[in-house]
This record gives sequence, structure tokens and C-alpha cells, in this order.
Amino acid sequence: MLVYFNGNFVLKEEVKISPDDRGFLFADGAYEVIRAYAGRLFQADAHFRRMQRSLRELRIEGPDAETLRTIAETLMQANDLENGDVAIYMQVTRGAAPRAHAFPRPGTPPTVYASISSFQTPPEKLERGVSAILVPDIRWVRCDIKAVALLPNVLANQQARENGAEEAVFVRDGALTEGSHSNFCAVFGGELVTYPRAHYILAGVTREVVLDLCRELGIPCSEFPIFASQVKDADEMMIVGTTVEVMPVVQLDGWPVGDGKPGPITRRLQQAFRALVHQR
Ligand code: PDD
Repeated sequence: MLVYFNGNFVLKEEVKISPDDRGFLFADGAYEVIRAYAGRLFQADAHFRRMQRSLRELRIEGPDAETLRTIAETLMQANDLENGDVAIYMQVTRGAAPRAHAFPRPGTPPTVYASISSFQTPPEKLERGVSAILVPDIRWVRCDIKAVALLPNVLANQQARENGAEEAVFVRDGALTEGSHSNFCAVFGGELVTYPRAHYILAGVTREVVLDLCRELGIPCSEFPIFASQVKDADEMMIVGTTVEVMPVVQLDGWPVGDGKPGPITRRLQQAFRALVHQR
């Protein structure tokens, strides 16, 4: 596989990253994951915009949106995946410099890396749904930045896996904020509810698409905290994200959600999402 590394497209094995890289030493960087369906990037502008925002918030000078697009498109072509279903990973760190907490001297080039792989959300999980667990949200308060520092997410997701679940949903101040790698939605009496856009969650590109689909389909939706004390009243739940798409959650902490099967609103959204990603 050819990857992008600091201006060049090279074999992945040829990439050499300094042990002084601030991504390695401090997790000092931002990232994005973008899908392409049948060779067409999905919601790429929104991802590139969010990458720019993350970098701005972290005060890292990275490539502009146009360069990121060129990198993504070239990766597809260079790897003969121009018609493929793929996931593209892009990461920018503050570059390599002797270890010190403060920023390196001005002009230190950022480290820019991007890779591509064939990717499909497991169809059987989309069909049958998955389990999730609740975990305390021990993350910092700038979850709106897509930072590569993901330790709490890693620990939470591992805990989910060890409990036979697909996702861990964070609970902060009694409310379900988002998953370790997805946003979370629940349906109460026909209305889809998801945590408000704030510093406590990532403004998910898929989350926004799902809210737009709700409006198009006439499904009532609101951005409001869902409290852990309410979850047993939910008729449906789903996690939404670039890698999970619109994934039904049929069990939470071992309890069945609704009747334990993906619900009608989840199905409508899945269908509309499918149609959207394959729209030409
Ligand atoms: N994660 N919340 C968190 C914490 C995430 O890490 C992600 C995505 C999302 C969903 O955002 P989007 O719809 O823009 O993908 C929400 C990526 C896919 C990852 O870390 O692999």
C-alpha cells in the first residue's frame, strides 16, 4: 500500500517517524477518518473543515483543505482503489523536536501522514445490531477537537470488547455524551434525541447527516442530554459514525433496548443513509 508521508507517496514500510515526533511523545496532533463509497469521498468537505478546526484549536499549522483532498484522491488512485469502498486515515502532528512541553521553535514542520484501506462496515452488525456498555466519561473537556490523544477511548472500547459489546458510551454528569468512536442517539416516543453539540462531544459528520435525514424524513429530532436514568425508556438506540455508519444498539449494559431488535426509525435512517452514500 502506498501512503502519504510529508509530501511524498511511499510504501508504508518506507515511512520513518522520529522518536522525537510530538505525536509519539505527547499525542500532540489531530486526525480524521473519511470514507469513500464506490470511489466517491463521502462528506469530505465536512471532514476537511473539521480537521482545519482541530488544527486551529491545537495551534498546529497543517495542510489546507485543498491539499488534504488532493492527498485523499491521490491515495485512492495510487492504490488502484478509485472505485473502492475505503477508509482514509489522516493525521497531522506538531512535528519532531527535542522533548519539551512548550511548542517547538517556529517553523518546525508538522508531520503529515495519510493511509488508505478497503473498508466495509460489517453488514451483519448493521442488520442485527450490537451491544453497548456505559462507562464514566473520564476524558478532558475538549472532546470537540479530534485529537489523537485517545487513551480514555481506548480503555473504554477495550472494556466494551471484554464485555462482549461493540461500543462503550460515555456518561458525564449523568448524561450519555457519545461513544468511544461514535456519536450516540436514542429514540423516545418517535423522537430521535442526541447530545447537544458542545465541547463534551465530537461534532460528528455522520451525526449531522443523521439529523438532516431526520428533518428530510419528517422524523422529530432534538439535541438534548439523554440521562442514564432515562435509558430504560428508550424505544431504540443507535451509534453513528464514519466507521459504524448508522448502527442499531439492541442491548445496553446487558438489557434489551425496546424489544431487543433494531427499531423502525433506525431502519428508516439506515435505508436513507445507504441511499445517500451511493447517490451519484
Ligand atoms: N471516530 N465521537 C468520537 C469520539 C469519534 O471518535 C468519532 C469518529 C465520532 C463520529 O464522528 P464522525 O461521524 O465524524 O466519524 C464521534 C473515528 C471514525 C475513529 O476514531 O475511528
